[in-house]
Amino acid sequence: MARMLEGKVALITGAGSGIGRASAATFAREGATVMVADLNEAGAEETAASIVANGGRASARRCDVTQRDDVERLVAHTIETYGGLHCAHNNAGVEGEYGRTLDTTEENFDFTYSVNLKGVFLCMQAELSHMLEQGGGRIVNTASIAGLEGAKNLPAYVASKHAVMGLTRTAALEYGPKGIRINAVCPGPIRTPMLEKLVATNPRMEQAAIAAVPVKRLGEPQDIAEAAVWLCSERADFVNGHGLVVDGGMTVGS
Ligand code: NAI
Repeated sequence: MARMLEGKVALITGAGSGIGRASAATFAREGATVMVADLNEAGAEETAASIVANGGRASARRCDVTQRDDVERLVAHTIETYGGLHCAHNNAGVEGEYGRTLDTTEENFDFTYSVNLKGVFLCMQAELSHMLEQGGGRIVNTASIAGLEGAKNLPAYVASKHAVMGLTRTAALEYGPKGIRINAVCPGPIRTPMLEKLVATNPRMEQAAIAAVPVKRLGEPQDIAEAAVWLCSERADFVNGHGLVVDGGMTVGS
């Protein structure tokens, strides 16, 4: 079967770990050349090296998605290096501190929002400018099932992910007519370092999450990577402004 992203250039943020790392490898598996971006440069280098070792094309770059200059330079560097930018997976995110609304500090709120929301906003602005000139493109933002419903003890995170859904839907309306499709992926609980940090704070969380998932397992980063690649492929050509839930059925009812 033909690969889904042959000849495309993809930029993935938060690709030094977890979901972003699996996404980068999967974009490469499907034929894309991948710019692996992360605040954690060592993690990004490791992801890119593993793609290259498996016969793919990739390179790494440090980028803090909360900084406009960093993001603009990342997009410019991708285009200079690989001649274009066809697909972007805006995935970098933080969980913030665990605690109820009254216990959430302003610092935690601002920090969580700056990475999860402003980061996606800045990335979309830089990517869209180029994709408009290029005449098209595909963007997928990592939201969460916490972008669709409430979740106790993560108020800033939940609010930031709802806002990512708002940005995604709005940009899909604005730029769909220009040949740019913008979607989101909404993961349920996925076994990554982020989830491990939350489980360390609340050890019962892992079993509670598995119990709440109808297919009775945590998700793996690969589950989300496959969805992101599909959303960026021509096979999803009529999918725009959508939040694709990948949660083993956790949110469909109880
Ligand atoms: P992770 O912690 O393994 O990876 C997140 C990556 O983002 C890290 O490599 C980190 O260095 C990077 N990052 C953090 N701040 C950054 C910044 N300012 N600039 C650039 N990179 C930055 O976590 P995971 O689980 O892979 O998370 C990826 C995305 O998936 C996040 O947006 C997260 O909110 C979302 N998500 C995760 C779920 C889970 O259960 N693991 C569930 C739903 C959504």
